Amino acid sequence: MLKGKKIILGITGSIAAYKACYIIRGLIKQGAEVQVVITPAGKEFITPITLSALTSKPVISEFFAQRDGTWNSHVDLGLWADAVLIAPATASTIGKMANGIADNMLITTYLSAKAPVFVAPAMDLDMFAHPATQKNLDILRSYGNHIIEPGTGELASHLVGKGRMEEPENIIRVLDEFFASSDELSGKKVMITAGPTYEKIDPVRFIGNYSSGKMGFALAEECARRGAQVTLITGPVQLKTQHSGIIRVDVESAEEMYEAAQAHFPDADAGILCAAVADYRPATVADKKIKREKEEELTLHLRATQDIAASLGAIKRKQQCLVGFALETNNEQQNAEGKLERKNFDFIVLNSLNDAGAGFRHDTNKISIIDRKGRTDYSLKSKTEVAQDIIDCLVATLSPNF
Ligand code: C5P
Repeated sequence: MLKGKKIILGITGSIAAYKACYIIRGLIKQGAEVQVVITPAGKEFITPITLSALTSKPVISEFFAQRDGTWNSHVDLGLWADAVLIAPATASTIGKMANGIADNMLITTYLSAKAPVFVAPAMDLDMFAHPATQKNLDILRSYGNHIIEPGTGELASHLVGKGRMEEPENIIRVLDEFFASSDELSGKKVMITAGPTYEKIDPVRFIGNYSSGKMGFALAEECARRGAQVTLITGPVQLKTQHSGIIRVDVESAEEMYEAAQAHFPDADAGILCAAVADYRPATVADKKIKREKEEELTLHLRATQDIAASLGAIKRKQQCLVGFALETNNEQQNAEGKLERKNFDFIVLNSLNDAGAGFRHDTNKISIIDRKGRTDYSLKSKTEVAQDIIDCLVATLSPNF
């Protein structure tokens, strides 16, 4: 997908700058054209000669190419690019991008660019975690820039934490996937529920579950990548959305998720119910923290929550498609088929806790898709690839309806 794509690679003053060589190699191998724009601090970490040898192009870093006034046009550069990738991006560059402080060639190019922008932060863990950095990253997200989250591991400082630039092959994959996007779902609205729900016991405690939201978020990104307008209703999770086509609605309890789903589904073409919704909630919520008493036992009275899936299945229109999930520990096929009927799903995605690497918190999943025609089994894959399989199925299910 990167063949013929013109990519500006912005390099800033981080030790991870040496990894930019691998990014260049990978991009060029896939047929892309790479123009490096480097900040003055970036040049302290890697020499322009190395970079120009790899890209077969002069490296740009100054506003003026020569003292006679020949200047490097950041406007032309910005318009030339199909994508701008800033890797590594320091806290300083991220701050300047967020606030439009155009004091070097890279930031002026960034501000002039019309192409999608990808930012791969690289810094020490405390700098990354600092509210100033996080606020600036949120500002970049609000501009529609794609943040390629750093990984966790040993940092140049020998401290261990989150801040190391994502590996070059993964950065290249993000770009590749971006250019692979299609318009199959363009004009379609998809509502997705994701994550766990928290059911309050008292002001400090709740009943929850281990759902991380990763599968639902991967589905939201995949639908958005195919052109859909996505409403992602999510319980409490530690995840951020990347694509600008996703509207996020944060909820906490099953009841809040029910209200949000009821409000958004009638307007949607499809609903994907990926959330791990509590089936029961405390019948009453104590208004003060429940104290430890002398008794050995404490009984909580629970009341059934609304089944969001069944309620949407009951109001589903003929043209709408509803997809459910089933996480089973036993009798999986039979239970999943029962839910398909009871909740009026068009198809159901079955994942079993018996499969290694599948289910809660993992980055991988192993699924089967069951519809009224039968069952298809898939191999263990990343949640991004699993999302692609599920959305392929959604597209096929929606097609005859339109
Ligand atoms: O019956 P079970 O909870 O296993 O069904 C799972 C499916 O139903 C999932 O798609 C889940 O998101 C959905 N569900 C729901 N509301 C509930 C319980 C489950 O939407 N209260």
